[in-house]
Amino acid sequence: MNRPTVDAPPEKIADAAHEIDDVFRTRWSPRAFADKPVEPQKIRRMLEAARWTMSSYNEQPWRYVIATKDDPEAYDALLNCLIDGNQEWARLAPVLMMSFVKTTFDRNDEDNRCAEHDVGAASAALTFQATSMGLYVHQMAGIRPEVARETYDVPEDVEPMAGLAVGYLGDPDRLPEGRRAAERRPRSREPLSAFVFGDKWGDTAELLTA
Ligand SMILES: Cc1cc2nc3c(=O)[nH]c(=O)nc-3n(C[C@H](O)[C@H](O)[C@H](O)COP(=O)(O)O)c2cc1C
Repeated sequence: MNRPTVDAPPEKIADAAHEIDDVFRTRWSPRAFADKPVEPQKIRRMLEAARWTMSSYNEQPWRYVIATKDDPEAYDALLNCLIDGNQEWARLAPVLMMSFVKTTFDRNDEDNRCAEHDVGAASAALTFQATSMGLYVHQMAGIRPEVARETYDVPEDVEPMAGLAVGYLGDPDRLPEGRRAAERRPRSREPLSAFVFGDKWGDTAELLTA
């Protein structure tokens, strides 16, 4: 196995059952971020990775807003779009983003059934690009969509999707006490057999047991 890309704590490195790239083993979602700005070049590289994500009909339905602590007013406006429970720790992150999804196709205004899927893929690409540069991303479903809509005057066919906190890894002691244990908890996952099926729903694909 290659050397881990980021200096992830050992309990956060995936105990993978099959060999996978280090970006997948070492990525995890911290809440404690370091008080250290992220280089603008690295932020641009993350967004460039999102840009080159595959999407249904190459529609590219992802949209992002971004704010850094260099602009406190913009940063606070974006922080305010998160629910309180996420604001509590996300305020440590030097960079915040929010993803949005354009729900209809540009070419015919019809519903894009896979638009949310494609925004998730773009955010995954952005996240793994971050991992490869020593950065961490923590995504958040806990947003206040109506606040985001108003703050950014979002068009009708665009929906606020998820918050993203971005930065370098910080000391768990920077978090409120109640959040520190989770920060050190090992990552866990269901086995492949729980979600990869063969000819019958629920039956493990033969390929996995061969
Ligand atoms: C779309 C999405 C929404 C999430 N929402 C939240 C959230 O609102 N608050 C939070 O603390 N973590 C949130 N998470 C983080 C997940 O809880 C985390 O990814 C999961 O527990 C797996 O942990 P890992 O990313 O460290 O492997 C979210 C993750 C994703 C991908």
